[in-house]
Amino acid sequence: MALIDTNLDIAYDLLTTSEIVAIPTETVYGLAGNALDLSAIDKIFIAKNRPRTNPLIVHISGIDELNKYVRYIPDISLKLTEKFWPGPLTILFPKSDVISSEVTANQPTVAIRIPQHPVTLRLLKMLPFPLVAPSANPSGYISPTSAQHVQAQLGDKIKYILDGGPCTKGIESTIIGFDDDETPVIYRKGIITPDDIKKIAGKVKIHTSHAHDKVVTAGMSLSHYSPKTLLYLTNDLEVILSKNKDKRIGIITLQRKFNTDFEQYVLSEKGDQEEAAKNLYAAMHYLDSLDLDLIVAEMFPDEGIGLAINDRLRRAADEVLIN
Ligand code: TXA
Ligand code: MG
Repeated sequence: MALIDTNLDIAYDLLTTSEIVAIPTETVYGLAGNALDLSAIDKIFIAKNRPRTNPLIVHISGIDELNKYVRYIPDISLKLTEKFWPGPLTILFPKSDVISSEVTANQPTVAIRIPQHPVTLRLLKMLPFPLVAPSANPSGYISPTSAQHVQAQLGDKIKYILDGGPCTKGIESTIIGFDDDETPVIYRKGIITPDDIKKIAGKVKIHTSHAHDKVVTAGMSLSHYSPKTLLYLTNDLEVILSKNKDKRIGIITLQRKFNTDFEQYVLSEKGDQEEAAKNLYAAMHYLDSLDLDLIVAEMFPDEGIGLAINDRLRRAADEVLIN
């Protein structure tokens, strides 16, 4: 079992001696280590059982740090960082030599963000180095949005979980890069929507993945964020429920409550997508812990934050059943 506490000094001492520590961010909890220390980086890949071909995000404490770790800063990115940092936006930049190829999985770009969590921002300001931090879950499973989720999934692999309470945003940061003409390209959908980016940058593209892609991102591994329980995603819950009456089912909906004995998790009683995103992984963790036969999730409207929620549900699902 890992120690769960709010003491920053314990985190500082571990991180400055090549150890890894779970840290809170506004999106999900991260498994953090010194971004400039190969031994810490190695421990992260081992604890998560993460393929070395999947690069890590570097978390910095302020915009003044950026030029140490990147070779080139497109003008348009400064407008975006000014608006969205600290916050749930990760940006791909050409990496400087300080960043090792282990961090970027041999890619020429490095992913950078400033998280918006008071505890982790304070920790980053104390430390003399940036932190790499992938989500603090075993590779492929649901990301953690509380210290208790981290304990349940990685508690036997790490010493310390810095407790910052439940994550306020609840799904991983939006990841963008830039085209040759410096158009922002969304590689992973998140709380910051295509419209949000377009409002600031004037233009935006959404990346669709191809087998020959040079850039590797989370968006490209199709199975991801998955509970152990079988999960169906559908736009017609009634049909699935009527076909599976004999099974023990858990239901995830945005707002609707069904008149049934099945376990139900309503993500937002007022139908608010931000609130739903915040609760999404807690719903999956909870229903997954009940040892059910099946979890059925209802598709969200494909707009705004619903785009990112549907993206995560699609990757979590064993089957997508659309009428
Ligand atoms: O919200 C978040 O981004 C959370 C918190 C902890 O900051 N972190 C997170 O990390 O979601 P992770 O490792 O679970 O997902 C980040 C994804 C990776 O799967 C990787 O594919 C992509 O970002 N990525 C990282 N560096 C990249 C790079 N240089 N080029 C392309 N994709 C990259
Ligand atoms: Mg992850």
